[in-house]
Amino acid sequence: MAEDLQIIQGDKATVYLQLLPQLEALVGDESDAIANLANVSAALKSTFNFFWVGFYLVKSDELVLGPFQGPIACTRIQKGRGVCGSAWEQEQTIIVDDVDAFPGHIACSSASKSEIVVPLIKNNVVIGVLDIDSDELATFDATDEKYLTLLCQWLVSVL
Ligand code: SME
Repeated sequence: MAEDLQIIQGDKATVYLQLLPQLEALVGDESDAIANLANVSAALKSTFNFFWVGFYLVKSDELVLGPFQGPIACTRIQKGRGVCGSAWEQEQTIIVDDVDAFPGHIACSSASKSEIVVPLIKNNVVIGVLDIDSDELATFDATDEKYLTLLCQWLVSVL
């Protein structure tokens, strides 16, 4: 396994195109979900310098905090609550340019300004979400959605 990610900075798509194959190599044949989600969180945060990157996993009909990188965060989110619970309920990605304008946004940190939440869907069931926060407004766009969706689609196959 490579010890370091090799990323040549460029536009967002160029960076994702370099990162995704390295994540596949990093996860490789590892079957432990916590190890894989932890490394993916670290890789995304260090590559893009996001404020917070992590996973919430569905357990007993709640989202429960999983592996993450960044400041401490709320541990449990109900279906339909906040951006994460809404993405779970709607079974689709949600991009929020300004979290203060999202009704019901759960503020784990006042430094978080924008957010993307991508559901992890396995066999047509949401098993968790990938949540990424930025400390700048309107950080996330269709490019993030495209590549993070590809990442999550692949990731569920190795969870
Ligand atoms: N803001 C999220 C809660 C999780 S934290 O951002 C890490 C939400 O509204 O669901």
